[in-house]
Amino acid sequence: MACKLIPKRAYWVAFIYTVLVSHACNGFYPSENYMHTYSTGEEIYAKVNSLTSIYTALPFSYYSLPYCKPQMGIKKSAENLGQLLMGDQILNSPYRFRMNVNESVFLCTTNPLSEHEVKLLKQRTRDLYQVNMILDNLPAMRFAQQNGIKIQWTGFPVGYALPNSNEDYIINHLKFRVLVHEYEGAGVLIIGTGEEGMGVIPDAEKKQPSGFEIVGFEVVPCSVKYDPEALSKFHMYEYDKFSVNCPLELDKSQIIREQERVSFTYDVEFVKSNIRWPSRWDVYLRMEGARVHWFSILNSLMVIFFLAGIVFVICLRTVRSDLTMYEELDEKVQMNEQLSGWRFVVSDVFREPNHSKLLCVMIGGGVQITGMAVVTVVLAAFGFMSPASRGMLLTGMIIFYLFLGTLGGYAGVRLWITIKGTSDGWKSVAWSVAYFFLEFVLLSSLC
Ligand SMILES: *[C@@H]1O[C@H](CO)[C@@H](O)[C@H](O)[C@H]1NC(C)=O
Repeated sequence: MACKLIPKRAYWVAFIYTVLVSHACNGFYPSENYMHTYSTGEEIYAKVNSLTSIYTALPFSYYSLPYCKPQMGIKKSAENLGQLLMGDQILNSPYRFRMNVNESVFLCTTNPLSEHEVKLLKQRTRDLYQVNMILDNLPAMRFAQQNGIKIQWTGFPVGYALPNSNEDYIINHLKFRVLVHEYEGAGVLIIGTGEEGMGVIPDAEKKQPSGFEIVGFEVVPCSVKYDPEALSKFHMYEYDKFSVNCPLELDKSQIIREQERVSFTYDVEFVKSNIRWPSRWDVYLRMEGARVHWFSILNSLMVIFFLAGIVFVICLRTVRSDLTMYEELDEKVQMNEQLSGWRFVVSDVFREPNHSKLLCVMIGGGVQITGMAVVTVVLAAFGFMSPASRGMLLTGMIIFYLFLGTLGGYAGVRLWITIKGTSDGWKSVAWSVAYFFLEFVLLSSLC
């Protein structure tokens, strides 16, 4: 009977599943996740993600602000479903790095800022928007000193706003520090212990590093006032001594004002590091505040267990006293069917509720969501969804939600059959399980 009922729709559903899954699978093994070694002088371009703010949840494209554009045009990086939903939009940038070349680079000078651009820049600055730059799949890390505490953060602000005035300053000079590690893979010679008389390997034959891996990417943002006339003789990537210490004085910083021309520069410093490639993400995962989260998780768990324990104890005592009471009653008035209390309720426990279908649908949906949460958390705990693969967590959640739809449907229909005693109407329950929470989410997102 079931076979006859497989409608054309089922094939469509299977097809859409396959498309979604294969699309999302692109995110499972992004090529950027493999180790890449660079030889000295090799060019690496940084990428830019959307501008984000912790105050407004709305991301904006990097090039919505008058920043320097890459010479070869703006290109998008491949995205997965999770990135799309997170509002990530990774674009190429003109920021060029040459492996192990310390340099100071001029990028461009903007046209005089228009009224609209000034308004936009000021707005983004005041909304605490930040630029998220990525080099070799590593987000730029910024270290700051705040009230004597060293804090680390990814990304750097669009600009500085002065609290008591209307003046804003744009970040136009970036001091990058790239940590590199000499790659000692294929090129390493195994040196004998000497006991077997292997002899000493001449210096020239000792291991030759076959390249450098990028293991850290730090940035110090500054606002520097340049003389646009003096800079006008430079072309993009022309070298000069732009290396400046970030000025603390406001009159040496680049103000955001109409008709002002903003020059963008950066300097790069490559520093050798002992950090190895597999541990380069450690510093991001050790972000401030992790301990606070553990504490609050523990706190809520304790409260939940405590309350559950109290309810359990109260229930236990009530049931016990009731049972002993009935046992005494039983001895006194045997065969009296007019009793109330637990006996009376027995027939009610397995009574069909008023809205049995709604109950089945909700339980099915609950099983689906709980299953998704459990699978995602477990896989994340095993490190399958590292933050190095952007958007992976969200993609995974969606995929698991899709697949666990079968489990949710099964649980809902199972309960339906238990309640009704027959399988009549199970299809409607199954379809409802599939759509109930989707509609719920869509409706709540519209509101
Ligand atoms: C680049 O600058 C860093 C820090 O000042 C220094 O340690 C390193 O040796 C420099 N590299 C080159 C190639 O000059």
